[in-house]
Amino acid sequence: MRKRLVAGNWKMNKTYDEAVALVSEVVNMVKDEVTGQTEVVLCTPSIYLTALKQYLPVGGRISLGAQNCHEKASGAYTGEVSAPMLQSIGVRYVILGHSERRQYFNETNAQLAERVDAALANGLTPIFCCGESLDMRENGDYLGFVKEQLTESLFHLSAEQFASVVIAYEPIWAIGTGLTASSQQAQDMHRELRQHLAGKYGDEAAQNTTILYGGSANAQNAAELFAQPDVDGGLIGGASLKSRDFTTVVKANN
Ligand code: PGA
Repeated sequence: MRKRLVAGNWKMNKTYDEAVALVSEVVNMVKDEVTGQTEVVLCTPSIYLTALKQYLPVGGRISLGAQNCHEKASGAYTGEVSAPMLQSIGVRYVILGHSERRQYFNETNAQLAERVDAALANGLTPIFCCGESLDMRENGDYLGFVKEQLTESLFHLSAEQFASVVIAYEPIWAIGTGLTASSQQAQDMHRELRQHLAGKYGDEAAQNTTILYGGSANAQNAAELFAQPDVDGGLIGGASLKSRDFTTVVKANN
């Protein structure tokens, strides 16, 4: 059975006090209200990760994640955060290849392959993002484009390494726009991507891979999205910034 997971992607939001308040609220609400087995990951700005650790229940199913890491372990890369640094403060997950990173920071499939390697070598679970633009969806081979993102950044991994990767399908046209993919569109893409993974790593590995949906998933639409057979949870942006909404989304994934 593949794991179900809901990850909050806070992006560049919240001051320190606001971050402490939000984590505390989410921890309390999830603890009291969510009975299922869904894992929860809070991908906060990395500057807060060390301090926020103390607000998580020990051994619980809520953990912290970073939103990016550099491919090099250390060195003269001003402003960057490395995978060994994240490991050294007990972080377990890292988002890689988010479309905003690809768009604004020019991250490429080849560079992301190296970041995936760095994450895995340091015991981090990559939440690897893929997804097509609106123009690609309307005029192009969007399925081929997304499959290529997976091929070029992940298919060099051994089967054992690949087993640690979580994938997030996030159509760019749905991110932060309020335009969610329909549950059928999400299901169709997830099924296709799972088949693509099966072609490389075999059916069993593909069936065991957690594939999240992201893009304007919220308290209202999460239950229908997560009910799709190939949708194993979500990567949640805007709705992860409000404890009540985020808890509702987590509940919807049980
Ligand atoms: P959104 O963001 O939920 O605000 O659309 C999702 C994401 O970018 O991961």
